[in-house]
Amino acid sequence: MNELAGKRLLLGITGGIAAYKSIELVRLLRKSAAEVQVVLTGAASQFVTPMTLQAVSGRPVRQDLFDPAHEAAMGHIELARWADLVLVAPASAGFMARLANGFADNLLATLCLATTAPIILAPAMNQQMWANPATRHNVALLEQRGVELWGPASGDQACGEIGPGRMLEPEALLGQLQGRFAPGPLSGVRVLLTAGPTREPLDPVRFIGNRSSGKMGFALATAFAGAGAAVELVAGPVSLDTPPGVERIDVETACEMEQAVMSRVTGCDIFVGCAAVADYRPDAVAAQKIKKHNDRMELRLVRNPDILAGVAARTDAPFTVGFAAETQAAEDHAEKKRIAKRIDMIAANLVGAREGGFERDENALTLLWEGGREALPMMDKRRLAEQLVSVVTEHYLAARHPAS
Ligand code: C5P
Repeated sequence: MNELAGKRLLLGITGGIAAYKSIELVRLLRKSAAEVQVVLTGAASQFVTPMTLQAVSGRPVRQDLFDPAHEAAMGHIELARWADLVLVAPASAGFMARLANGFADNLLATLCLATTAPIILAPAMNQQMWANPATRHNVALLEQRGVELWGPASGDQACGEIGPGRMLEPEALLGQLQGRFAPGPLSGVRVLLTAGPTREPLDPVRFIGNRSSGKMGFALATAFAGAGAAVELVAGPVSLDTPPGVERIDVETACEMEQAVMSRVTGCDIFVGCAAVADYRPDAVAAQKIKKHNDRMELRLVRNPDILAGVAARTDAPFTVGFAAETQAAEDHAEKKRIAKRIDMIAANLVGAREGGFERDENALTLLWEGGREALPMMDKRRLAEQLVSVVTEHYLAARHPAS
């Protein structure tokens, strides 16, 4: 199967000696029947000529932000909409800084701001520039916003140094692109997730909340989308960017979260309750700010609906996955919860001062299901999410197509 046939790839080339390799990349992409539109920055045209790239890509190369020949000088919007994917290879340190800071001062940087297509960078630079704290910071910012980085590789550099900073070879980039467009194991599968905390208002200015950052749920949404699923993410109040390709529904309270979930769960294949939903909410919300009069005050709370248990109890219940954040005996409590809520799988983790969990970038989980368990050791939440998604995928597919 040729995954790249008919795909519209926008190849941005920025200034760096590795730009000469992009000519070969364009040739390989064209051989794979992809449509390739090349955009050159001014610095890139010092290394490769528009004429060469036009010849190999079969399309005029674009260079200018203000180009009267293209759609009333709105070329950046037209290109941003056209692309199925934007690959910048080589991506120089300067271009990455521009992108990280949202500059719109050349055609390539501007269309990257304007596109909803995935953006992938293949960095190429001197190893010291790659190691520089400014570049490290820009890389972290870009990755946080969902920009993917492929490479760089390590080895001999054009400047005579040895280290990380070499652009991946054209064949390697081609392979990565083919993998990116290959249908994932969850293609055609609908996934609904909850993430983040809820806020239960006491009065117009105060609420009961919790320390959930939403990072685990957002990482899961990214990983499910990466596996090819159509993902809807019901998010409590968090300060995180929406993962590319994910539909996000913002809510505040547990009741709003329940409503958002129940109105979307029909036809959904996998439900993951990752949100830290408040168990109770104030019985009444004061219309005005509550004043301090007495030394003591009592709050009357009422139970919130259990969203996960509610989804699992439906006759059309999807494959359900829950989380159990515990401060002690995590597995015991989690297993009891799995059975009580009648869910297919639960991810147990310890939270507290020394453990991972809330507000951290790392976490460790133990997955429990009927008759089995798998421990995922402490790691970055993004990698952890990918591993969790692969275990969920395996169990979901086995439940859908039981061995006869
Ligand atoms: O019972 P407990 O709150 O510990 O269960 C945690 C799991 O249940 C999580 O998956 C959480 O998202 C889900 N949950 C829910 N609605 C609630 C409480 C918890 O969906 N009201």
